[in-house]
Amino acid sequence: DWKMDSFVETTIKALREKIGDGKVLCALSGGVDSSVAAVMLSKAVGKQLTCVFVDHGLLRKNEGDEVEAVFGPNGPYQLNFIRVNAQERFYEKLKGAEEPEQKRKIIGEEFIRVFEEEAKKIGAVDFFVQGTIYPDVIESGLGKSAVIKSHHNVGGLPEHVDFKEIVEPLRLLFKDEVRKAGLELGIPGNLVFRQPFPGPGLGVRIVGEVTADKVRIVQEADAIYREEITKAGVDKNLGQYFAALTNMRSVGCMGDERTYDYAVALRAVLTSDFMTAESAELPWEVLGKVTSRIVNEVKGVNRVMYDLTGKPPATIEFE
Ligand code: XMP
Repeated sequence: DWKMDSFVETTIKALREKIGDGKVLCALSGGVDSSVAAVMLSKAVGKQLTCVFVDHGLLRKNEGDEVEAVFGPNGPYQLNFIRVNAQERFYEKLKGAEEPEQKRKIIGEEFIRVFEEEAKKIGAVDFFVQGTIYPDVIESGLGKSAVIKSHHNVGGLPEHVDFKEIVEPLRLLFKDEVRKAGLELGIPGNLVFRQPFPGPGLGVRIVGEVTADKVRIVQEADAIYREEITKAGVDKNLGQYFAALTNMRSVGCMGDERTYDYAVALRAVLTSDFMTAESAELPWEVLGKVTSRIVNEVKGVNRVMYDLTGKPPATIEFE
């Protein structure tokens, strides 16, 4: 793509001129936007850039390691990459929190706090990178009539980090253009075409209180679901698909034993803009295979349900 090719080249050159020998800080989530922004900055100013990746313990199975494999010391980019393993801290803060907005607030605030502590260790920086894309720019200018969910985007602006200027290299791009830029920069396809993942992560896919054990359950179930969907080749048109953990436990039987375990909900939606969505009609045999694998392989689950609800009246995520 020649247009994207020249956009990437021009932007990198402009960044290099603007930044000079300044120090740059970036919050890397592993999502498409922050990844593309980080790689662009690293091509522009190399080691002057430091990327901080906060693992809040609410990522999908192995996701933290996958992000590290790409951006860490053994990956293709020679970034100053700092991974903060803050899992326990987040679980501690989330103890007893059951209400969705309260959980979102806790996760968002703790994220900023962890990031600020890390930034303090790095010392004075001149520029702070944000992966803001064009739809974010428009959305923030509109002012929503009612807040259904308070959105938290990893990479949001910390209050207590001093810097001179914000750099937003993707400010004029739509999502599909960000992806093209990512490919142009050599970022792996699985990362570039990753499905959307909310900032509060599995925190909004575990209904009610979050615990380390519930995170394990939803991670395992979700990994099985994604694996089978990919294997069956039915992922092409899906806007988003994932497993969630309902807060419901029910009675089941295992051999001669009574069980009283959790119910996992599977969700897959078709959507063009994530504002509305409909439930996808997945092949019965795929759902059957996923169900039997989850109840057999994931300890603590004895029931699997498929969510047929559209948005509205439901939302895509569970909280
Ligand atoms: P809902 O659940 O509101 O989600 O139908 C619509 C889209 O937004 C994503 N989502 C979020 N993304 N921070 C994000 O960056 C958030 O807090 C957040 N909450 C929901 C969701 O995954 C879906 O793609």
